[in-house]
Amino acid sequence: MSVNSGIVTKLKATLDNPRLFNLLQLAVAGRQNITRRLIREGLNLMPGERLLDVCCGTGEFADVALGPYLGIDINQKFIEYAAREYGAGGGHPEREFLAEDITGTSFLTRGLTFPKAMMINSLHHLSAEQNQAVLGAVAKVTTGRFVIVDMDPDPSNPVSKFLASQDRGEYVRPLKEQIALVEPFFKVENAFTYYARLTAQTIIICSSK
Ligand SMILES: C[S@@+](CC[C@H](N)C(=O)[O-])C[C@H]1O[C@@H](n2cnc3c(N)ncnc32)[C@H](O)[C@@H]1O
Repeated sequence: MSVNSGIVTKLKATLDNPRLFNLLQLAVAGRQNITRRLIREGLNLMPGERLLDVCCGTGEFADVALGPYLGIDINQKFIEYAAREYGAGGGHPEREFLAEDITGTSFLTRGLTFPKAMMINSLHHLSAEQNQAVLGAVAKVTTGRFVIVDMDPDPSNPVSKFLASQDRGEYVRPLKEQIALVEPFFKVENAFTYYARLTAQTIIICSSK
């Protein structure tokens, strides 16, 4: 193993630590208040409406919810952290966190439905097949709006472009390809790129078919 690849391996392992992952996110993307606003607007989220957060990770975006919330993620460590910080442990019993694969029968046979759902910064970490499975599962349980936020790999700002090139996601795609992934499962109402501090993002606003 070269010195460089050793450093990269260590860095990747460090990013599996929820606290360090969030610190890095904060440095690069700030508090992402613009993202929160755009998601709420895209969802037309009403007070009290139940929200599903698909691939919620450490639960950073749980505060987008204006009522009951369910965050689901396959990573048990992330879910434990999320529940402690943003769920019942953080004074929000209305926010639930579930360590499960959203595509698994255990989740899909619970008979849950959600008027609104979101999937933040996850599309580019999943292969086309994985995305198809995840989006198919979301389509089964979502009755109204679904908003996806992801990264824009080709922003005009050179600093943002450099940051985008450093992303850990293995499946970075331009907005057009992101939309093509989503279209078989949802009606795409609107999609555009924007900046959250230095990070260049995409947002896709969908409704159930
Ligand atoms: C980059 S993280 C995004 C986390 C969070 N949405 C955020 O913006 O901070 C992507 C997450 O997707 C989760 N994930 C991937 N496949 C999944 C699946 N089939 N079901 C549930 N979670 C999944 C991973 O465990 C990971 O935490």
